[in-house]
Amino acid sequence: MDLSALREEYTKHGLQEAELHDSPIRQFEHWFEQALQAEAGTPNAMILATVAEDGQPSQRTVLLKYFDEQGFVFFTNYGSRKAREMAGNPKVSLLFFWNELERQAIISGRVEKVSTAESTRYFLSRPHGSQLGAWVSEQSSPISSRSMLLAKFEEMKQKFRKGEVPLPSFWGGYRVKPHRFEFWQGRPNRLHDRFQYEKTADGWQVERLAP
Ligand SMILES: Cc1cc2nc3c(=O)[nH]c(=O)nc-3n(C[C@H](O)[C@H](O)[C@H](O)COP(=O)(O)O)c2cc1C
Repeated sequence: MDLSALREEYTKHGLQEAELHDSPIRQFEHWFEQALQAEAGTPNAMILATVAEDGQPSQRTVLLKYFDEQGFVFFTNYGSRKAREMAGNPKVSLLFFWNELERQAIISGRVEKVSTAESTRYFLSRPHGSQLGAWVSEQSSPISSRSMLLAKFEEMKQKFRKGEVPLPSFWGGYRVKPHRFEFWQGRPNRLHDRFQYEKTADGWQVERLAP
């Protein structure tokens, strides 16, 4: 399939240095609020890139659950492929693409596990079905069939039919502590606006990058 004629002109917005927040977290928050207002599809979906021991990168979508000056938090299975890769190499990259706004935001940082108390707090806020689902899935392991998953779900439903579903020991959050951000705004004629924030000893240093 030849896709070379698929083209888009980016004309909706611009990004000027003067309008950037000093803090990239504030800048991200500003863009995130606009993504919410624009009803960008799943605005908190982000591509998480990790690197395996042999240098092979891999990516997958995860959902950002909250962020602040401390970092960007998502939840997953601690036995999954991503978890194994992050245990070996905590350097990760997050990427958001907000098509409706012709924007991309990229965050580079180091990941660390959140505390069990923090994971529990979030786990207990999840819908009952998602809580059971976390117990069922040995994420990223090969399985023989879907029916085996459904049978395990029924088993967990019975097991935890009374009271709260507890946090599985193999499930929880990670916090990405950022040291670099890039904000990309599509512009006409491929002359896009790109600004990079790098963390230095004195705070955040901002540079415009060539598109
Ligand atoms: C929109 C979307 C949101 C997702 N959110 C999560 C998430 O928050 N946590 C998670 O573990 N997997 C999530 N997934 C599934 C992952 O993309 C991935 O399949 C899974 O985490 C296993 O990845 P791994 O084998 O690389 O560890 C999501 C997938 C999509 C498409």
